[in-house]
Amino acid sequence: MDKPILNYEDLLEMLDHFLREPKEFWENFYIDRNKEIPFFKVKGPDENLVEYFEKGLAPKRVLELGCGPGRNAVYMAKQGCKVDALDIAENAIKWAKERAKEEVVDINFHCLSLFDFDFKPHSYDFIYDCGLFHHLAPHRRLTYLEIIKKALKKDGYFGIVCFNTDGALDTSDWEVYKEGSLKGGIGYTERRLKEVFSNDFKIINFRKMKKTTQPDDLFGEDFLWVGLIERL
Ligand SMILES: C[S@@+](CC[C@H](N)C(=O)[O-])C[C@H]1O[C@@H](n2cnc3c(N)ncnc32)[C@H](O)[C@@H]1O
Repeated sequence: MDKPILNYEDLLEMLDHFLREPKEFWENFYIDRNKEIPFFKVKGPDENLVEYFEKGLAPKRVLELGCGPGRNAVYMAKQGCKVDALDIAENAIKWAKERAKEEVVDINFHCLSLFDFDFKPHSYDFIYDCGLFHHLAPHRRLTYLEIIKKALKKDGYFGIVCFNTDGALDTSDWEVYKEGSLKGGIGYTERRLKEVFSNDFKIINFRKMKKTTQPDDLFGEDFLWVGLIERL
């Protein structure tokens, strides 16, 4: 039976029902590890993440959102970070745990939606998201931002990798609900993405990801934006 909308969370849940259920989609997505998915083929971290660390980013406590098979979590653990890595899909976490074992690093993995993650407020120096944000429904963006603001320490950093308009369609927020679909993710224009982070954040670095030619130690695709953002 339809639930009455009595509070903000009820409203978000109602809007969720207009779109596909993410858990089932992502579990299926990881069943075949040999698929032609760019980040399935590369074990190494994102080229921009490595650049941030090489240029002096040295976080102690890190949270990775939507860690998938764990490329970036493994890299950050190797840099000496204490890493919490979460993903909604058990099949992704299983793969990531295997990689962490192979690479002999210790990572705290959590299999749940970021919206159900129970964290200590203002406890992370750095939060990283490669590829989750652009799959979020527009109404979930608000909670996403609240989580980042609450989880990061003041002056902490947030790193994002997100589809640009070569990666996916620039579907408007209203269209998502009219069509009942995110159409494989939202391709953000520079302006649209920067607007999301225009309050309480300062954009330190923003560019297209540099494409790497595989085989390479690093992951890079130019249909993605990369941003390093400071929590004010
Ligand atoms: C495009 S994949 C990127 C995986 C990984 N970051 C990488 O680059 O190798 C997006 C990931 O976000 C996860 N995801 C989607 N919605 C989520 C949610 N609400 N909470 C946690 N993880 C989520 C998916 O299961 C998937 O592993």
